[in-house]
Amino acid sequence: MNDTAAEYVKQMLTGAEYVRQITSVESDRRARSAFHDLVLRVAPPGGALFDFGAGPGIDARFFAERGFTVGAYDVDPRMREFFAEHCRDLMDGGRVALDCSTYREFVTRRTSETGARADVVISNFAPLNLVADLHELFAKFHALTGPNGKVIASVLSPYFIDDMKLSWWWRNAARMWSDGYFFLPGPQAPHFRRRLANFASLSMPYFRLARLFRGLPPLLGRDAKGVEIGDSAGFAWLRATTSRFMFLEFEKCAPQAAVSGNIGQTSEGL
Ligand SMILES: C[S@@+](CC[C@H](N)C(=O)[O-])C[C@H]1O[C@@H](n2cnc3c(N)ncnc32)[C@H](O)[C@@H]1O
Repeated sequence: MNDTAAEYVKQMLTGAEYVRQITSVESDRRARSAFHDLVLRVAPPGGALFDFGAGPGIDARFFAERGFTVGAYDVDPRMREFFAEHCRDLMDGGRVALDCSTYREFVTRRTSETGARADVVISNFAPLNLVADLHELFAKFHALTGPNGKVIASVLSPYFIDDMKLSWWWRNAARMWSDGYFFLPGPQAPHFRRRLANFASLSMPYFRLARLFRGLPPLLGRDAKGVEIGDSAGFAWLRATTSRFMFLEFEKCAPQAAVSGNIGQTSEGL
């Protein structure tokens, strides 16, 4: 387990406390519903999902009940305990599987050449903000997914306008612009805030950051399509100013690109 994850586990809630909190706030319920809608639009019906940072299994259950098979991983034993209860019937029926290894085992274990691959890796409510080495994690996602694999991740927006009213945002703004991210130790879960350019470069050469979506139900029809990162890199971040979360869609790069590390991506201004 990396240091950030270890800190998180020390301070985190039990699965039941987490479920109570995350389901009691209206904006969180709307964010989850928007994430579900996006995954249902992107994933092939009846396909295979892998839920990274699955927590108590709310999304695993939701998607398995809609015909998907779901592999899942979470580093926190208390979350896994809740997950196993919450999804017991689906696990018994073979629709959901939970990986209970340590984080180090999870990222370094060789994925079998012949084993089933996920169509989409999903990661809801910011697990990617809790991982220090995202490059290593994207290499794992590359191994877990099939040829047209995608990653759909809900991450904390560093451009959220409400956060810009707070002193911690301004204390870290210069670092975010120069380094692409900053680390917030905080009294709750310590986490990284990352700019789009930082996600784009850390996912390469395994995945290309393709689209950004607002982390709430679409306001206008065009919001549902998201914004293409390659086409309008300079202004993409504007779409992430009105919600606490932003949804990122990554597309898998060809295997030879992943091996040679040979692809560049426009990330100016993100
Ligand atoms: C805010 S919760 C989100 C849980 C769930 N995805 C949801 O939608 O409710 C973040 C989750 O990320 C998990 N997490 C943190 N670091 C992790 C790591 N290195 N590997 C896997 N899971 C991790 C935590 O244990 C926690 O369950």
